[in-house]
Amino acid sequence: MSNAASILVVEDERSMREFLQILLRRHAYEVTAVDGGAEACALLAEREYDLVITDLSMPQVGGLEVLRRAKHLHPATEVVMITAFASAETAIEAMKAGAYDYLTKPFKVDEVLVTLDRALEKRRLVRDNQVLRQQLSDRFHLDQLIGRSAPMQRVFELLRQIAPSRASVLISGESGTGKELVARAIHALSERRERSFVAVNCGAIPEALLESELFGHVRGAFTGAVGNKEGLFTVADGGTLFLDEIAELTPALQVKLLRALQERTIKPVGSTSERAVDVRILAASNRNLERAIREGVFRSDLYYRLNVIGLELPPLRERRADIPLLAEHFVRKYAAEAGRALRGLDAPALARLCDYDFPGNVRELENLIERAVTLAQGDEIGVAVLPELRAAPPGGETPAHITLPGPGLDLDTHIGTIERTLLQQALDRTQGNRTDAAQLLRLSLRSLRYRLAKYALAGEGDTPKP
Ligand SMILES: Nc1ncnc2c1ncn2[C@@H]1O[C@H](COP(=O)(O)OP(=O)(O)OP(=O)(O)O)[C@@H](O)[C@H]1O
Ligand SMILES: [Mg+2]
Repeated sequence: MSNAASILVVEDERSMREFLQILLRRHAYEVTAVDGGAEACALLAEREYDLVITDLSMPQVGGLEVLRRAKHLHPATEVVMITAFASAETAIEAMKAGAYDYLTKPFKVDEVLVTLDRALEKRRLVRDNQVLRQQLSDRFHLDQLIGRSAPMQRVFELLRQIAPSRASVLISGESGTGKELVARAIHALSERRERSFVAVNCGAIPEALLESELFGHVRGAFTGAVGNKEGLFTVADGGTLFLDEIAELTPALQVKLLRALQERTIKPVGSTSERAVDVRILAASNRNLERAIREGVFRSDLYYRLNVIGLELPPLRERRADIPLLAEHFVRKYAAEAGRALRGLDAPALARLCDYDFPGNVRELENLIERAVTLAQGDEIGVAVLPELRAAPPGGETPAHITLPGPGLDLDTHIGTIERTLLQQALDRTQGNRTDAAQLLRLSLRSLRYRLAKYALAGEGDTPKP
């Protein structure tokens, strides 16, 4: 099958029909030409064309009828009308009925080509959006999470495996990578889904309050404790407790939490008796806990209790394949909230997003789209409503540790070693997936393959695994 756009020409006037046919064929379109509206409608019932160019006034079945039939059968097909100057009013009616544009006879060759080109570009974008929409609805979706990149597909797989168990999960990742959303997904996919999901931000509650917040207190436990109070462990009994920013726990509370996890019991502040609770613990941190352990500020025994299963969310810049899908998702979300009909982002706007590094990860993308939706005029988001985003520097930051050794070095060999090391690291990080490795190194797949061959390195496949 050819990739050329398919065009149906409908024109009763023979010289005009043949002129269009020859012109469009010469520009590598796949052209079918008919001399009346009836034949056109018959063909439209059989197959879809990318574009229909039709004369307005033809005997019997006219251009408006062809337009209506085309739009009815194939809403994404673009239709361009040809009119004589006398029928401008009908041309306007045609635009209202969904025609892309109209050409007034006599017209210039360039005019035809430019109009068709634009109409086809629009169709391509609409189609891409349809594909995206389709992808959103199936396997690139888990609970509220969206992701089609290989790293996110692996996260989904892991989530499905670990959700049913009771094991603690430690979710790590930079700020805005979706840690809380992952915690909610684990709960929603588990048998505890009918019971409570309770989230506590350990960094936001003053230390003095956090203990009673978590474990509850009895009347008179401290000044102001006028009655018994249930702790969040009790509220989450039978369900899931999500301890966010776990690195912020003080040493004293770390001990108490460890005890609660080991014994599966809690002791309210001021109480002498313990009570059993059945709570699944999920914890999250955007700080490196292993480093916190080395620095002596986080207990390693608590770490191992929390990290029965470790789940690391990659930063958005390491899974750029997710950007179009996430952007589309947020456009729909905020357009719906604002009651606006937006088709999505145009190609340059999407390209700008895909080139950007997103230090604030998915949250930054979400905020940016929310703002763009508010500012957008017309039915698409263009670069005009996006901030200037500094594209990722082509070579990354300049590494600080480059120094020329005293006796000098063989530059080519040295650079080769660096290149090979980075290639190997990219393959390791993507578990051998070449498509993702190429993305990490901002290389085309072809260029990556060439380099892998040069250094005799192997990668696994060229496409993300389903
Ligand atoms: N994969 C995803 N699909 C859809 N939305 C996402 C995804 N990841 C993150 N988001 C959205 O991005 C925002 C930030 O996510 P979330 O709050 O889970 O991040 P976080 O890792 O907990 O950040 P922080 O460390 O700053 O607390 C939320 O609005 C969330 O809904
Ligand atoms: Mg969070």
